[in-house]
Amino acid sequence: MNILLMMTGSIACAKATGLISTWTKNGHDVKVIASQSALEFVGIATLEGLSNHPIITTVFNQGTMMDHINLSRWSDIIVMAPATANSINKLNNGTADDMISTTWVAALELKKPMYLAPAMNSKMWDYPATQNSIKQLKKWGVKILMPQSGLLACGEKGSGRMMEVEKIDECVMKKNNKHLLITAGGTREYVDGVRYIGNLSTGKTGATIADYFISQGYNVTWVGARNAQQPVLICEKIFYETFDDLHELVKQQLQQINFTAVIHAAAISDFSVFSVKLDNIEITASRNTKLPTSDTMSIQLTKNPKLISYLKDWSKNPDVKVIAFKLTNTNDKGERIRAINKLINQNNINYVAHNDLSEIRSGQHSFNFYLSTKQMKFCKNTNKLCRTIQEEIS
Ligand SMILES: Cc1cc2nc3c(=O)[nH]c(=O)nc-3n(C[C@H](O)[C@H](O)[C@H](O)COP(=O)(O)O)c2cc1C
Repeated sequence: MNILLMMTGSIACAKATGLISTWTKNGHDVKVIASQSALEFVGIATLEGLSNHPIITTVFNQGTMMDHINLSRWSDIIVMAPATANSINKLNNGTADDMISTTWVAALELKKPMYLAPAMNSKMWDYPATQNSIKQLKKWGVKILMPQSGLLACGEKGSGRMMEVEKIDECVMKKNNKHLLITAGGTREYVDGVRYIGNLSTGKTGATIADYFISQGYNVTWVGARNAQQPVLICEKIFYETFDDLHELVKQQLQQINFTAVIHAAAISDFSVFSVKLDNIEITASRNTKLPTSDTMSIQLTKNPKLISYLKDWSKNPDVKVIAFKLTNTNDKGERIRAINKLINQNNINYVAHNDLSEIRSGQHSFNFYLSTKQMKFCKNTNKLCRTIQEEIS
């Protein structure tokens, strides 16, 4: 993995050199950008010796003028450790006045995993601007490696101590190996250019699940309907409208990326429009036309294949976990179980998150999460469902 380490001026720079040794020993390629202040705490010789790359310190360096763009593209992960109060607040403002801030600003929209490991005196950590910046950066999808409480270098006790190197490594590596594909919202099957057959899915469950996993540091690709509720946090977003779109997009994604799991929460139409008759005359309808007025209309539908049954076959990762959703509409518990059994037995899936229409109507968002047909965990809300899924796929 290509790791871009940004070091800013804190006494924790010495500790952060341990990250370079750990990552290079584990076979990663590490490039370091150091602020001028960071170089007051640790020498270029140490950083270059450990990373085996020249240390980048300025934007204007002949021969490497485009490094702020090139490095943001090159990296798989960007980690700022230690992150000073000064630099954190600059990132929130979008100030780009040195190599670190310029590269960071250039990188954020590339939607790569970006981490900050703050290190500072507890008063600097508690300073309102610092707290606001952390809140804003989190909203933009930056993962904060929260500082710990304890005795600080300045002799004070409090929060602000940079997370230990082993813990940073664990957080960054464990989560970044995990990439989830989450489908959400409902399909539209077009009758003509202005009418469609759809469903009432809002995409809320898919968006909530996506936000949960993004906040936990996972890479998330959200494939959602155009009108669906979108995740608030930053992730790759891909939009679909029809069954055919969704089919193609999910296939492409699974073939290209090693996903750890697919959480398939999209409400997919079982049928697409095959033909339309107006007053008994068959009409060739397309997305470019609007059907004329008639007294009668009949629409012939054609059955769509079960997307869920293909996911593992398409997947680049043979060990991908597939989580399906099943909505039933019956008070008969036996019937619910039979529907879940059928879904599990007829498709190549690992888990089923089940709920019944009656629960949705009564405003509940509870699920029964089936690990197999025999084992079931009750999840009283979507967050609990997310935690259960996380335990299973970790
Ligand atoms: C001995 C010493 C230790 C410092 N430690 C920290 C620190 O842990 N966190 C911090 O935010 N600033 C710390 N500072 C202040 C920063 O180095 C200073 O704000 C600097 O302008 C940060 O620049 P940079 O963010 O570009 O690296 C320290 C300064 C000195 C002299």
